[in-house]
Amino acid sequence: MERFTLIRNARLDQRTTFRVPARAAWLADVWKSSALPPLLAETAAGERPLLLLGDGSNILFTRDFEGLVIHLATRGIEILADDGQQATVRSAAGENWDGFVRWTLAHGFSGLENLILIPGTVGAAPIQNIGAYGAEVREFVQAVEAFDIIEQRFTRLSNAACEFAYRDSLFKRRPQRYIVTAVEFLLHRQRPMQLAYSGVRRQLDVMGINRPTPTDLGRAIECLRRGKLPDPTVIGNAGSFFKNPVIPIEHLKLLQRAHPDVPYHAHDHRACKLSAAWLIEACGFKGMREGDAGVADTHALVLVNYGGADGAQVWALAERIRNTVADRFGVSLEPEPLVI
Ligand code: EPU
Repeated sequence: MERFTLIRNARLDQRTTFRVPARAAWLADVWKSSALPPLLAETAAGERPLLLLGDGSNILFTRDFEGLVIHLATRGIEILADDGQQATVRSAAGENWDGFVRWTLAHGFSGLENLILIPGTVGAAPIQNIGAYGAEVREFVQAVEAFDIIEQRFTRLSNAACEFAYRDSLFKRRPQRYIVTAVEFLLHRQRPMQLAYSGVRRQLDVMGINRPTPTDLGRAIECLRRGKLPDPTVIGNAGSFFKNPVIPIEHLKLLQRAHPDVPYHAHDHRACKLSAAWLIEACGFKGMREGDAGVADTHALVLVNYGGADGAQVWALAERIRNTVADRFGVSLEPEPLVI
């Protein structure tokens, strides 16, 4: 099998979950990581912008991309070490994330069930440090394998070297340097479950489960997600469009005078995290629609493409939301997906 295929002036419409029209000057589908050095040489990649695309579930194209888009289609999950209690499991970057979570549950590992059903690939998971229902992937990552474009060699970064933060990592900040090729996870067979996130226990009650297994918890979270987040295979979207903003405690106190019910979480001793969805809903955007771009009616943090919107229209709506929230609350919302 060819190790990579290269298309010039490629359409990306079906390559992202927003399904907006866009083209890339070059698009490479890579079937084996070892194809990266020859691919980068053949396309003179050092001289053009580079973009890594997984399942395209966290990106919005507002225009064409003048560089090389690399889609890693590598496959393979293997157990590298296993002492009966914990194991190191390695997955190729191109594996589907949800499929990987289900593989770990089927093999008796716990922990990733809170992250079930998140769209995207395994390789993309550490880049934006995916998180949901009280867990973040950084808690399970032992190391990330990547191709270092500057040093022209394959490398392995420990968890600490990945500089993980809320929806952020070294890889997100240095997209022209690293191509994530595989992720090594440290997984346990017995691990305390994370049930604290709002709504989780209630959902388990509804399902009649009072002593959940990790698989039960995964099923409960699946129900919660399906109830709130529009399915990207049905309606174009990229999950949360904004990060939850972190603001100083003094700012929160001012906000609470006018809005005593504003929801927040502690962040550190000087700052707290607000709910972007609440701010957006309070400004009246939930469920609104401008042409084919809109805000989901089940969750105010999710922008959607009802079919015919282009990226510029989605982005125009996002800008309107940002400006309105900034005017009304003095809070600045940052996009969560990559916006080109
Ligand atoms: N809320 C509203 N209106 C809404 C939705 C939510 O006011 O339409 C308020 C409610 O007060 C609710 C609070 O927002 O209690 C939190 O809502 P939710 O539990 O849905 O979580 P979120 O903070 O909006 C984050 C992640 C999601 C993740 C959920 C569940 C970010 C940017 N988003 O959303 O991740 O699934 O928690 O853990 O951190 C993603 O990153 O793409 C994503 C979907």
